[in-house]
Amino acid sequence: MNEKTITNYIDEQQWLDDAGNALQPAIIKAYKSGGEAGQKLKNFMHGTWLGHPLHPVITDVPVGAYTATAVLDVLELAGHNKYSAGADVTLAVGLVGALGSAATGLTDWSATSGKGRKVGLVHGLLNVGATALYATSFFLRRGKGSRNTAIGLALVGYGISAAAAYLGGHLVFGEQIGVDHTATAAEYPVDFIAVLPENELADNSMRCVQAGEVPVLLARKNNKIFAIAHTCSHFGGPLSEGDLLENCSVRCPWHGSVFSLEDGSVINGPASEPQPKFDVRINNGQIEVRKAT
Ligand code: FES
Repeated sequence: MNEKTITNYIDEQQWLDDAGNALQPAIIKAYKSGGEAGQKLKNFMHGTWLGHPLHPVITDVPVGAYTATAVLDVLELAGHNKYSAGADVTLAVGLVGALGSAATGLTDWSATSGKGRKVGLVHGLLNVGATALYATSFFLRRGKGSRNTAIGLALVGYGISAAAAYLGGHLVFGEQIGVDHTATAAEYPVDFIAVLPENELADNSMRCVQAGEVPVLLARKNNKIFAIAHTCSHFGGPLSEGDLLENCSVRCPWHGSVFSLEDGSVINGPASEPQPKFDVRINNGQIEVRKAT
């Protein structure tokens, strides 16, 4: 079975939609109930402060630690008992890292939909299963006579983690979750290019225009004109269809990311990458933009 067959099979599972419909709003509601602090925590989990999703950074901890555990466990099974303490420590590190991975992963997953949401849910469930096996292994390692069982459970957990990681790869490379959707093959104009007559952009309004091949969001707020990339970095949402906010920012219509119009920076996630910014000038009654210098 190849990757497409597996993920298409997952996509056909209606129960995953039902489970997603129940779980996703609960996560969103939990963050909302925390007010401003909840929003800050959500931003932290998404990685808006990092300029990159936090989840793939954190997942390196359990993946690396569990790999070390597997190697040390196999050495122990081969008769090298001196590695047993090391295996227990790396397993503990992996379990702590798994908590961070789960928290960041669930947060990112709360802003997914369709096939990505279903595959993401299976990815998460596999990791929960692996973590349960690892946690059981951790406690069994302390008991006399159960060490080989504990090692066996950890090795099964490692196999399940590998399957989860495989789906995680599909989420990024197949479903484009966590990639910067403003990273386009189209050339950003380095010289000023006319995009709209100035009198066609009313104050307190915004619209999408083309700068060559690149869609640009033009916004006029308090009679100042701003230009940032129109395609939302999070998942490609059309920013001109979102909300122009009072604090010179724009909210994406798809998952609510908020970007500063001044510099394209992320104010609220789920986006973690900023919107590219454009320089703006008025020339002969035309609004002209170019890639910010
Ligand atoms: S596409 Fe998700 S917040 Fe814009």
